[in-house]
Amino acid sequence: MQELLCRLVAECRDACSSGGVASYIPELAKADPRMLGVSVLTTERTFFQGGDASFPFTMQSISKLISLALAIEELGEDHVFERVGMDPTADPFNSIMRLEMVRPHRPQNPLINAGALVILSLLPYRDSKTRIAVVLAWARRLLGNNAITVHEPTYISEKNTSDRNRSLAFFLRSVGSLKGDVEDLLDTYFRQCSMSVTTKELAFLGMVLALDGIDPFSGERLLRRATARVLRALMATCGLYDGSGEFAVRVGIPAKSGVGGGIVAAVPGRMGIGVFGPALDGKGNSVGGMAVLEHLSARGNLRVL
Ligand code: DON
Repeated sequence: MQELLCRLVAECRDACSSGGVASYIPELAKADPRMLGVSVLTTERTFFQGGDASFPFTMQSISKLISLALAIEELGEDHVFERVGMDPTADPFNSIMRLEMVRPHRPQNPLINAGALVILSLLPYRDSKTRIAVVLAWARRLLGNNAITVHEPTYISEKNTSDRNRSLAFFLRSVGSLKGDVEDLLDTYFRQCSMSVTTKELAFLGMVLALDGIDPFSGERLLRRATARVLRALMATCGLYDGSGEFAVRVGIPAKSGVGGGIVAAVPGRMGIGVFGPALDGKGNSVGGMAVLEHLSARGNLRVL
């Protein structure tokens, strides 16, 4: 496996040149677009790695899985899906258009930016400080690393530049889809997006979801089976935004991407995978990461969709 992963990274590195790093968050624009790494966690509880597997990057949209899991576990599936839909969109992850056109003005799913903002607004915590403390605690458990923290420079960079997310949040409040202090809510969102990980933590998270919510090492139940299944279903249909359909055809594994270049993938009952490659396609998904997942899926016969 180790050898296969090193070979896949070497083969796929050239694919990175067709993409570009996220430039709308200045801190992310500093990344090296040729970086590429992968970690795999199998049922034998062994991690295998290739390339830049241990290089830290920020979770970005992958963090939406953490707060969604928290919201479903604490508030229940029915409550959560009264406030956000569960359908894919053919629009970019930060699109505002459909929010105004469709009634009720409810984000189409919890993995687009508007949906993630509504999810955070449902959590019953007083302010961003308390909210992010709980999100971080959940992230540490679901990522299998107690040392997970927020990468401050990325948080500040996004906070200073995110006019689009501000627009989404204020629009949502204006139509009653979101309540409370918008800046305080955005603060939690920027911090959760800036949680720093490596592919190893993503492989762990992928395995927790692959095992229907069980910690692969301790055997402890971290999420209800139903919660893990909801997350996997949303990953399969909405995890790569308007690229989800093509990814399902090419790779066939539930996955979630982030503009930091990470993708987490969960092969039910078998494997958790984390990939990292900061060069993105036009939809905000890692080109090198998708190439590695496509080859790994084909060679390991991992397709489930
Ligand atoms: O809100 C944003 O735009 C970023 N913090 C996260 C977006 C993202 O990761 C989209 N995923 N591919």
